[in-house]
Amino acid sequence: MQVLSVTSELYPLIKTGGLADVAGALPLALRGHGIETKTLVPGYPALMKAIRNPVKRAEFADLLGEQAVLLEANHDGLDILILDAPTLFDRPGGPYVDPNSRDYPDNWKRFAVLSKAGAEISAGALPGWQPDLVHAHDWQAALTPVFMRYSEMPERPSLLTIHNIAFQGQFGAEIFPYLGLPVHAFAEALEYYGGISYLKGGLVTSHAISTVSPSYAEEILTPTFGMGLEGVIASRADDLYGIVNGIDATVWNPSTDPHLAAHYTAASLKKRQANRSALEARFALDSDGGPIFCVISRLTWQKGMDLLAEVADTLVAAGGKLVILGSGDHGLESGLLSAAARHKGRVAMVVGYNEPLSHLMQAGSDAILIPSRFEPCGLTQLYALRYGCVPVVARTGGLADTIIDANEAALAAKAATGIQFESGSAEALRSAIRRTVRLYGAAKVWSQLQKQGMKCDVSWGRSAERYIDLYQRLVSKGQ
Ligand code: ADP
Ligand code: GLC
Repeated sequence: MQVLSVTSELYPLIKTGGLADVAGALPLALRGHGIETKTLVPGYPALMKAIRNPVKRAEFADLLGEQAVLLEANHDGLDILILDAPTLFDRPGGPYVDPNSRDYPDNWKRFAVLSKAGAEISAGALPGWQPDLVHAHDWQAALTPVFMRYSEMPERPSLLTIHNIAFQGQFGAEIFPYLGLPVHAFAEALEYYGGISYLKGGLVTSHAISTVSPSYAEEILTPTFGMGLEGVIASRADDLYGIVNGIDATVWNPSTDPHLAAHYTAASLKKRQANRSALEARFALDSDGGPIFCVISRLTWQKGMDLLAEVADTLVAAGGKLVILGSGDHGLESGLLSAAARHKGRVAMVVGYNEPLSHLMQAGSDAILIPSRFEPCGLTQLYALRYGCVPVVARTGGLADTIIDANEAALAAKAATGIQFESGSAEALRSAIRRTVRLYGAAKVWSQLQKQGMKCDVSWGRSAERYIDLYQRLVSKGQ
């Protein structure tokens, strides 16, 4: 089967979060099962610089008024289609924001053009190749199924995956004429409280919808988590699937990871000590005992980073230490920096995005704290399981689905892999921290938790099979 994946991020070329990891790992997981994926991404500067020997495959003279060249290249085993449209994508800054962290004012056009290119490729714009199915990710690619629906060419089966419903691609109705869609597409698909929602358009027009954990698939049917789109999703409930993410077990492997001070396996957990020492040196932490908690996160309200700042004093008083790696909201950043200033040697923070450091933190910390208010899947708890770093997670979305709380029954059954607590509550987070410190003090129980976690299959194996089933169902329905 041939698949076209359309995404705005792709590990290892361009990443702001888990979307990149998933878009980069899923094609590799599916390849062994006879599914060949070409991934369409915008030609951002970082990407254009990294790719080797791109081949020009097509030219678009008029993608919503823009010219673009379609390049194809192979990178780390991924077959990539690059939409080279310098006026839209050759800019300093991130994929969505300028160097001052402001959204580009023409994001509506940048991602409409990406989606339009996806739709044209689905209809044969790439000479000699046509996908059997199109898999679009998040709002940035959500217009792909919309353009496919309203095209004159026969429509291919499509799947839209929601990685985070908080981001919906909402714009004013005045952009509608520029999308080149028939007038009735506004009311049928795109209209959202008088304006336009790209995600809604994709939800209405794709043949199936998936999200990245079974719990989140249930949650987005409710007003609290559906963020205004719960009604639209409910109307598509028969076509809604929750498939938990896997991880690339080659990139995240403590026995080969090039970013660690020492390699280890579940049978040689003592070797983690060298990573702990490297981490203490990197963050200038006191090198006495007690558990080291880490946080590797975007600094946002979603991730509960305000709650983290609130409980830092409790964490230190309980005998723990805390290392934070993250960037995002400046207010949250300064709250955490002032906790670090209050507790020199016990709390430390690196502001920014640092992939190698994130690996060392997983290998050198004892526990990872993930106090999210909502979490479609979450990947850092999965990396942590593999690294013997015990996940302490809010009971929501994919965190609830992937971590087994160390309650009495789970401990007795040797099934526990982490600690769960009620999401959105600083008090619950505080007691989870105290519970973690107690468990850490019981050395045998703690190493059992680590080993149970390391035994979990967090690879793409089972989830890849679920995607394959879904792809096959959609393709056979479409015939
Ligand atoms: P989200 O996509 O909502 O941010 P995920 O847990 O799915 O959450 O994915 C986050 C990804 O980004 C993980 O691979 C994590 O290790 C990485 N990450 C987040 N913040 C940083 C950072 N400051 N430096 C390095 N990696 C980070
Ligand atoms: C989103 C979600 C995160 C998920 C990731 C990859 O960014 O916030 O929970 O793991 O997408 O699917």
